[in-house]
Amino acid sequence: MTLRSVILGTGHYLPKKRMTNADLMSLVGTNDEWIVERTGIRARHIASEGETTSMLAIEAAKVAIVDAKIDANSIDLIVLATATPDYTFPSTATQVQAALGITGGAAFDVQAVCSGFVYALTTADNFLKTGSAKRALVIGAETFSRILDWTDRTTCVLFGDGAGAVILEAQAGTGTNADRGILCTHLRSDGRHLEKLYVDGGPSTTMTTGHLRMEGKEVFRHAVVNLAETVDEALRRSGLAASDISWFVPHQANRRIIDATAKKLGIDSSKVVITVDQHGNTSAASIPLALSVARHDGRIKRGELVLIEAMGGGFTWGSSLIRW
Ligand code: UT7
Repeated sequence: MTLRSVILGTGHYLPKKRMTNADLMSLVGTNDEWIVERTGIRARHIASEGETTSMLAIEAAKVAIVDAKIDANSIDLIVLATATPDYTFPSTATQVQAALGITGGAAFDVQAVCSGFVYALTTADNFLKTGSAKRALVIGAETFSRILDWTDRTTCVLFGDGAGAVILEAQAGTGTNADRGILCTHLRSDGRHLEKLYVDGGPSTTMTTGHLRMEGKEVFRHAVVNLAETVDEALRRSGLAASDISWFVPHQANRRIIDATAKKLGIDSSKVVITVDQHGNTSAASIPLALSVARHDGRIKRGELVLIEAMGGGFTWGSSLIRW
């Protein structure tokens, strides 16, 4: 018998406050035309004062729990991906656990920046596949607005805040690609690229939170190469072809990267889920947010094959194929 991690439900939450490209023009020397042409972003949501990553995560988790039609206390694992935790410690996952009234199982954060959700999903999948847990809540949640340098137009226009969540359950499968659930995951990292995308602060260096710094062109160049590699690997390992994919749900960093990857794979634009136009880059939250949006608006249906991929600071990157 093969155990598969089947997605039972999804949820997402966005802060009420929405910031358009026009709103940004009053803060930095930018314009709507540049942002749309270079990134595809038109608006993003920004957490209000006092609105934290855990608050966004809790709201997304509540929606996912209702969608999955389960009792929160049946969740025995919470893995939360974030680069913007409420506190240096404890983990944001434990705060979500407490807010949901869950007293059993384990909860922890993973940190792989924009690839965080793929890393968290892979971690939970491995717990479920080995029988170490039965039901997992996997969350990507961020308040990147808190680590942006709002005087740097090359970065502050790109990011937004939000959270997405999925509920996974270990179910018996046949071990074939016809099974529902996570069919494969593929993670990579290469730590030589710190200076291309990082935050210039931290408890052990500056004792401050710091601000996001990025060499955009360099990240772009590596993203196109690394994403193609990770998707090829996922397809090769699973014995599936790009033509089998029902929905392509990539990390939402830049519309040009998404379009280039889809084109390279031969995936029609009608099968690509895009949220970057309305959410900006929400880092670890972007994939579960996009999955939840496309699941709740009726696009992603049971039995369909979904490809997710991401690349972020570190560099980290990864992909997964999921039979919904
Ligand atoms: O999620 C983690 C992964 N992150 C990514 O995948 C991001 C990858 N990188 C990118 O998406 C793109 O590199 C950016 C969108 C960040 C930048 O696009 P680009 O086409 O690489 O532009 P650039 O950095 O080469 O800048 C072109 C010009 C520069 O002016 P000059 O030097 O040519 O006169 C910039 O100063 O655009 C200028 N510029 C802006 N102008 C108006 C940079 N930011 C802005 C801005 N508004 N916000």
